[in-house]
Amino acid sequence: MPKIKIDTSVGSIIWKIGKQNIWGCKLVSKKKHSYLFKITKHKQLKNKLLKNIKDTPFTKTYQNVSQTDWEIDSFLKRKYWDKNIIDIFESCTDILKKEMYGTLSKKFKAIVDNYWFHIYKKNSDYQWHTHGRSNFSAIYYISLPEKKYKTKFLNMDIPVKEGDLLIFPSFLAHCSPINKSNKEKVVLSFNFSII
Ligand SMILES: [Fe+2]
Repeated sequence: MPKIKIDTSVGSIIWKIGKQNIWGCKLVSKKKHSYLFKITKHKQLKNKLLKNIKDTPFTKTYQNVSQTDWEIDSFLKRKYWDKNIIDIFESCTDILKKEMYGTLSKKFKAIVDNYWFHIYKKNSDYQWHTHGRSNFSAIYYISLPEKKYKTKFLNMDIPVKEGDLLIFPSFLAHCSPINKSNKEKVVLSFNFSII
């Protein structure tokens, strides 16, 4: 029988059955070493995540992104990087490792390098760029008012929706198109390496 553990550390009861957590990530598609996951309990997480993101210091001066903590000292603790997000990170990267390395997957660890949020209000965007110094990058779509404001890639279309988490090789060029909606787009991103 798997062990059942109750964790009350985040204010609500989280049931754990063995290593499977209730915020589980479900792999829905893969393409060119990019992996799209659905966060099965996103609706339950969304409001708390948004609150924790909005409680984090930010600047309005980075590129044409409305608000981000990218320029805020990385030593400052972020409330949004909590146990739930760490569970999601571990669940998704465990699946990714199994997909990539099969029976060798236990030999490798996924190590997070950095994380940040972006808020895109009306008329904001982020031009084409890559992420250096990591193997993989991830984008968790916390709020995505319309699918057309999803991340764009060169020569690749990935049909992301709100509540999805996309992992892709960090060297792939991507951009966030201009948000023409009155509703904001909010993403939580992180870089990680598999070593
Ligand atoms: Fe990016």
